[in-house]
Formats: sequence, structure tokens, C-alpha cells
Amino acid sequence: MPEFFEAVETRRTVRDFLPDPVPRDVLDRCLDAARLAPSSSNLQPWEFVVIRDPEARRAANAACLDQLPAKTAPVLVALVMHRDTWRRNRDEILRVFESRGPLRKSQAAYYRKIIPAIYTTGPFGLLGPLKRGVSRLISLFRPTPNFMSRSDIRVMAHKSTALAAAAFMLALRAEGYDSCPMEGFDPWRAAKLLGLPRGAEVNMFLAVGKRSDRGVWWDRVLMPRDWVVREL
Ligand SMILES: Cc1cc2nc3c(=O)[nH]c(=O)nc-3n(C[C@H](O)[C@H](O)[C@H](O)COP(=O)(O)O)c2cc1C
Repeated sequence: MPEFFEAVETRRTVRDFLPDPVPRDVLDRCLDAARLAPSSSNLQPWEFVVIRDPEARRAANAACLDQLPAKTAPVLVALVMHRDTWRRNRDEILRVFESRGPLRKSQAAYYRKIIPAIYTTGPFGLLGPLKRGVSRLISLFRPTPNFMSRSDIRVMAHKSTALAAAAFMLALRAEGYDSCPMEGFDPWRAAKLLGLPRGAEVNMFLAVGKRSDRGVWWDRVLMPRDWVVREL
């Protein structure tokens, strides 16, 4: 698939955009491509918030520290990580499985027993460190998954959400559009603006549009291959 490599190679972080709007169908196709990203246990802990309202957009730009990509992009998307939607999403997975026919034993065991064991951390997450400690202890004797603490779950949900961001940016590139992922933002103001519940955080903002001729600030800088790829 040469187009795939072309999209990967021509995707750059763009920090200055043309004012041209992003057609709704293009944005929708890219959002739908992002929804296909892999996620831990297929729990899809993400939410894309397309910020359209002008007042919300001004506040979002400010939360993004008025970075140039936020200020110039015709579209700004907040990508939110939800730590606590696992139960709802687990139920949806089971519902879809069941609508397709009898649930397999392995599916039932995984989503009804293993997932709650991994994700339940008790009141205030107090059970978390204990679960993590027990996993570490078992691991001294045999391979075991990490029965996670709240902070482990947070990391896991951020990982999956960032994969959706990558899929989104590559899809945009395949459509001839550009993006800038932004981690430089005020997380408290961003959460307030988006009305996020506890356990949800902005993973990153994504400025989206078409690059201007000042959009790419410098040529790529890559670490030497043998620093980042090794075989054991
Ligand atoms: C998670 C993440 C956060 C980033 N945050 C910002 C940011 O706040 N502002 C910015 O200008 N670029 C940001 N970047 C862009 C990186 O600086 C950029 O990806 C890197 O320099 C490599 O350049 P390239 O994307 O053009 O290959 C971020 C990238 C990632 C993946």
C-alpha cells in the first residue's frame, strides 16, 4: 500500500495553517478512521470533541496557551481519555457480541470476570496498590498480568487514546490535510471548558487544517536507527 507510506512520510507537525475550512465529510471520515484504532481490551477509552462554538474555541485556544497551531487552525479537536468508561464500554461489547449469536465462553469469562478484576480499584482507588503488589509478587514465580492500580489504568487509557490520535493524523494526511498534536495546554482549564467528569483528561489537542507555506518549521530530525531499534 504505497499510499500508506506516503501518508506516514509526508505527515509533519504543522504549526501554521491556511484559513481554508476542513469539509465536514473529510473530518468525519478521519474521525471514523480513528475509531478503528486498536485499544486495550477493545475498550476504546477515547472521545473526540470537535470544538465549533466560537466562544468555546477562544477559550480552547487560550487553554492551548495560544500556541500558533491552535490560533491558525480552522478546526480544533480535543482528544479526551476516559479512565472510567470501561464498565459502560464493556457492556456495549457484550451487547454487540450477544446480538451476533451466543456468547463464547472465552468472551464471557474475559469481559465478565477478567476485565472487572483488572479495572476495579475500590473506593478512592485504595485497592489498586494492593492489586499491583499482589501481581508483582506472583510475577516472581510465574508470568502474570498487572492487576492494575488507578494510575496504571490511567496510563493504559492514555496509550490507547494516543493510538487513536495517530490514526486520526494519518487519516487526515491521506486526505491531504495536516495536523498538530498539542500536549502544551492547561489541563485544568481544558477539563473545565469541556465539562469533563472525574477520571477524564485531555490526552492532547489536535489542530487540523491545510498547511501554509510556513507550516513546517524545520526538516525532520530523527534519532539514529540503532538507538531506537534493537533485537534481542
Ligand atoms: C504527544 C505530543 C505532544 C506534542 N505537543 C506539541 C505542542 O504542544 N506544540 C507543538 O508545537 N508541537 C507539539 N508536538 C509536536 C512535536 O513537537 C513533533 O511531533 C515533533 O517535533 C516531530 O515532528 P514531526 O511531527 O513533524 O515529525 C507534540 C507531539 C506529540 C506526539
